[in-house]
Amino acid sequence: MIKEVNKMRTKITIVSLILFVIAAYSFTFAEYAHKAGAFKYVGVQTCVGACHKTDAQGKQLDIWQSSKHANAFKTLQTPEADKIAKDKGFTTPAAETPQCLKCHTTGKDIDQSEFESTFNIQDGVQCETCHGPGSEYKKLSIMKDIEKAKENGLIVHTEKEAFCTSCHNSESPTFKSFNYEEMWSKIAHKKP
Ligand code: HEC
Ligand code: HEC
Ligand code: HEC
Repeated sequence: MIKEVNKMRTKITIVSLILFVIAAYSFTFAEYAHKAGAFKYVGVQTCVGACHKTDAQGKQLDIWQSSKHANAFKTLQTPEADKIAKDKGFTTPAAETPQCLKCHTTGKDIDQSEFESTFNIQDGVQCETCHGPGSEYKKLSIMKDIEKAKENGLIVHTEKEAFCTSCHNSESPTFKSFNYEEMWSKIAHKKP
C-alpha cells in the first residue's frame, strides 16, 4: 500500500516537473520573441492610414494630435528642457538623452532596431507608446479580432491609472501631481 502511494507521488512529481519545464520554456520563449523585437513600431501615420480618424471611427487621431503627448518629443528640444537635463547632470541635449527620451517617446529605453522606417520619434508619446508596437497587429484582419490582436502585440490596459503613472511620477523632473480622472478626461478616445 505504502509502496503504491510512493509510486503515485513520484508520478505526480514527475508530471508536475514536466509541466513546470514546459511552462517556464514557453514563458521564456515569449519573452525572447518580444526582446528579439518580433513586434516593431510602425508609427502613428500607419495607425491612422485608413483607420482611427473619422468621426465614425472615433477621431483618435484628432484627439491625440491636440494632446500634449503629440508634442512630448518637441518639448525636449526646448532650451528649458536642455536646462533641466544639464541641472540633472546630463551632458547631452535633452532630446539626445536616453533618460529623458524614454518617457517622452516609447515609454521604454530606445532601441532603433525596433523601429520600422515609418516610425517617427518626433511624434513623441504616440499610439504605440500606449498600445504596443503595431507591426504584427496593424492588419485589419487581425485588428478586427481583439484576441488575435493581443497575441500579436496589442496592449489593452485594464489597470489604466497604474499604466499612466509609469511615466506620470516623481521620476519626471517637472512632476507635481497626477489626478487620473482629470487627466484621462483630457485624452479620452473611446471606440464609438
Ligand atoms: C510614456 C510615458 C507616458 C505615459 C505612459 C503617459 N503619459 Fe501622459 N504625458 C507624458 C509626457 C512626457 C507628457 C508631457 C508632454 C509635454 O508637455 O510635452 C504628458 C502629458 C500628459 C497630459 C497633458 C498634461 C496637461 O497639463 O495638460 C495629459 C492630460 C496626460 N499626459 C494624460 C495621460 C494619461 C491619462 C495617461 C494614461 C492613460 C498617460 N498620460 C500616460 C508621458 C506619458
Ligand atoms: C497615453 C496613452 C495613449 C495614447 C497616446 C493613445 N492611446 Fe488609445 N487608449 C489608451 C487607453 C489607456 C485606452 C483604454 C484601454 C485600452 O483600450 O487599452 C485606449 C483606448 C483606445 C481605443 C478604444 C479601444 C476600445 O475597445 O474601446 C482605440 C481604438 C485607441 N485607443 C486607439 C488609439 C490610437 C489610434 C492612438 C493614436 C492616434 C491612441 N489610441 C493613442 C491609451 C492611449
Ligand atoms: C518618468 C518619466 C519622465 C522622465 C524620465 C522625464 N520626463 Fe519630462 N515629463 C514627463 C511627464 C509625465 C510630463 C508632464 C507632466 C509632468 O510635468 O510630470 C513631463 C513634462 C516635461 C516638460 C514640460 C514641463 C511643463 O511644465 O510643460 C519638460 C520640459 C520635460 N518634461 C523635460 C524633461 C527632461 C529634460 C528630462 C530628462 C532629464 C525628462 N523630462 C525626463 C515624464 C518624464
